[in-house]
Amino acid sequence: MTQSVLLGVSGGIAAYKIPFLVRLLKKAEMNVQIVMTEAAKQFVTPMTLAALSENRVCDNMWEDDHQPSVEHITLADAADVAVIAPATANIIGKITSGIADDLLTTVITAIRCPLLICPSMNVNMYNNPIVQRNLRALKKCGYHILDPEYGFLACGWTGAGRLPEPEIIFEAIQSALSPKDLLGLKILVTAGPTEEPLDPVRFITNRSSGKMGIAVARRAAARGADVTLVAGPLKIPVPFNVKLIAVRTAQEMYEKVMAFFPQMDILVKAAAVADFRPARPRDSKMPKDELDKALQLETNLDIIKAVGSVKKDCQIVVGFAAETDRPIEKAKKKLTKKNADMIVVNDVGLPGAGFDHDTNVVTFILRSGEMEQHELMPKEKVADLILDRANALQRKKP
Ligand code: PMT
Repeated sequence: MTQSVLLGVSGGIAAYKIPFLVRLLKKAEMNVQIVMTEAAKQFVTPMTLAALSENRVCDNMWEDDHQPSVEHITLADAADVAVIAPATANIIGKITSGIADDLLTTVITAIRCPLLICPSMNVNMYNNPIVQRNLRALKKCGYHILDPEYGFLACGWTGAGRLPEPEIIFEAIQSALSPKDLLGLKILVTAGPTEEPLDPVRFITNRSSGKMGIAVARRAAARGADVTLVAGPLKIPVPFNVKLIAVRTAQEMYEKVMAFFPQMDILVKAAAVADFRPARPRDSKMPKDELDKALQLETNLDIIKAVGSVKKDCQIVVGFAAETDRPIEKAKKKLTKKNADMIVVNDVGLPGAGFDHDTNVVTFILRSGEMEQHELMPKEKVADLILDRANALQRKKP
């Protein structure tokens, strides 16, 4: 079903980013209804936003024939999620005080869907105690606040106040739309490859992009979990609402996972950890003619196995298996050997599955012997299915 986003634009310079946000929402096949304040029209034109949203832009409480309109209620009722971006100190103050004196504030007062507020202003305005008090009050009302970023501001100051990039607002909208069925759970996710240095310029690694692990972290955070992500070197952005612990080697990943795991309810180990590392890495670049002798390897610690041996009954561990031949048979062995509750098997030989794809083809193997085979689907969808399963297993625990 098409989801409807009510996008409120108030009068700040960061309104120039809104056309890009509208394009992302339309690309995701969402219906976008824009409501602008009078001041917003000084920064971006209704014509631009109408063309991109493919909807009439609403900015006026009163129809031309001067008949009182109930459009504000129709707009509020039609929204699955409402967003104000950029949200100025003025509109934040008005909403906090319950003022409804133009179309946008009136619609916002009438909404029953989730509301995401994206403050953006000069750093001193943002740090003003009244603005901060208002934001705390709005949070208390259950509204989502997307904190502004730190950086160079249009006014010449540097500090907190920048409107996050459209991709981040888009992600926050998706998060606001998601049911919060994982609220209260602490989830540790590992993602990406590890790098095992041979010398300062060479290392051993693998083809993991981190997309699968990032998808799990993103969906878990969107569904309300408190997510910590331990990730090797990534080439893709990390979701704004997860705690990132960046590592490079398998040994570093081992140390971080072992430190965080005791406080977690669920661990999803999507990282492709290097099984071996150069036995004697050098501090300076190795001459070519010494490389063959230097390429002696030693085994890295098996992180998931180590976790399995300290795991409490109430904790769920989900491992992955990336295989090209006899994947199910091999994954079954891994499930027992690594004391995991579930293994997600990717047959990385199939088209669209495994490394670096946006899609995956997976089979879940559970300790109970149950197996669940899935067709090719986006990694985000695979992530939701993994989380559904892990959540159900966790609920069954004492
Ligand atoms: O990152 P993408 O490009 O999106 O690709 C996704 C993926 C293919 C990397 C991912 O879905 C995946 O399968 N990850 C696990 C790959 C892997 O290392 O499989 P494995 O069979 O070698 O390891 C099995 C399990 O043991 C994994 O959960 C792994 O994290 C864990 N392991 C492995 C070695 C080691 N030293 N310590 C570990 O904990």
